[in-house]
Amino acid sequence: MSLNQLFEAAKDAMGKCYAPYSKFPVGAAIRAEDGVIYKGANIENLAFPQGWCAECTAIGAMVMGGAKKIVEIAVIAEKMALCPPCGGCRQKIAEFADRDTRIYLCDETGVRKTMTMDELLPFSFDTDVIG
Ligand code: THU
Repeated sequence: MSLNQLFEAAKDAMGKCYAPYSKFPVGAAIRAEDGVIYKGANIENLAFPQGWCAECTAIGAMVMGGAKKIVEIAVIAEKMALCPPCGGCRQKIAEFADRDTRIYLCDETGVRKTMTMDELLPFSFDTDVIG
């Protein structure tokens, strides 16, 4: 499974976005522990707060596909060279990731920046310390 496949999946997902209000298409692709690539795009709503992010759609697809672990995730936005996942998405990704899970920020030509979960969401809420 190549990194390029993950990038292409994120790009393909972006093409399926529903973003008539922001006109800011975003795509995400997750390679899960089952080896499957799960895709998602942002889906907006006339009642603006009801819309949700591409990462969120991809996580939903992954869980409904029966997987529970993000091995790596690629994110792409048509109008931004590097689209860092929003704060809420960082927390949502973290739920299914490890500290060293890789997040690939892409532009239309491919992966431009690779970050770990720990870099993206440092000092995160971690229930391990609760015991
Ligand atoms: N968006 C995402 O899909 N992912 C992010 O991490 C950042 C923002 C979407 C939400 C909204 O549809 C549009 O980008 C503009 O904020």
